[in-house]
Amino acid sequence: MTAFKKRDFVRAGEASINIQNILKSLNMDHKLIRRIAICGYEGEMNVVMHGGDGILTVEIDTGKIVLDISDNGDGIENIELAMQKGYSTATEEHREMGFGAGMGLPNIKANSDVLSVESEKGKGTHVLMEFNVSAD
Ligand SMILES: Nc1ncnc2c1ncn2[C@@H]1O[C@H](COP(=O)(O)OP(=O)(O)OP(=O)(O)O)[C@@H](O)[C@H]1O
Ligand SMILES: [Mg+2]
Repeated sequence: MTAFKKRDFVRAGEASINIQNILKSLNMDHKLIRRIAICGYEGEMNVVMHGGDGILTVEIDTGKIVLDISDNGDGIENIELAMQKGYSTATEEHREMGFGAGMGLPNIKANSDVLSVESEKGKGTHVLMEFNVSAD
């Protein structure tokens, strides 16, 4: 379990790299690791940019891997809108750093097998992702 702080751009990305290393050490499939790393990174960056303090947990099972990222930030007002490609509320500062294409959530959707985004304005955001692990 790794906790991270809002606007911590120095440590941002660290939690997903840790997860990547754990999965590599377990000899998981490279393509699967890549998909999980993309989702972890995008989710983590969203917490740093738009969320609050966050917690990332990963659960590794025989049949599936569950990645859970939650934060106590401002929350998402309209999840359906936030899921659309190109929608972003990123600031000028974020855009200067190369973020704000509005592709993070669509990327998570494309790279996970099951995705649930729960959020309430003022109460934070909970993103739950599942990845199937095939037996071979
Ligand atoms: N954890 C969060 N807390 C609050 N708002 C969020 C959170 N995650 C996403 N959002 C909202 O959803 C929008 C879309 O997120 P998405 O990751 O798709 O794009 P982005 O972060 O703006 O840009 P990119 O990920 O391409 O750098 C964000 O601009 C923000 O308004
Ligand atoms: Mg994003």
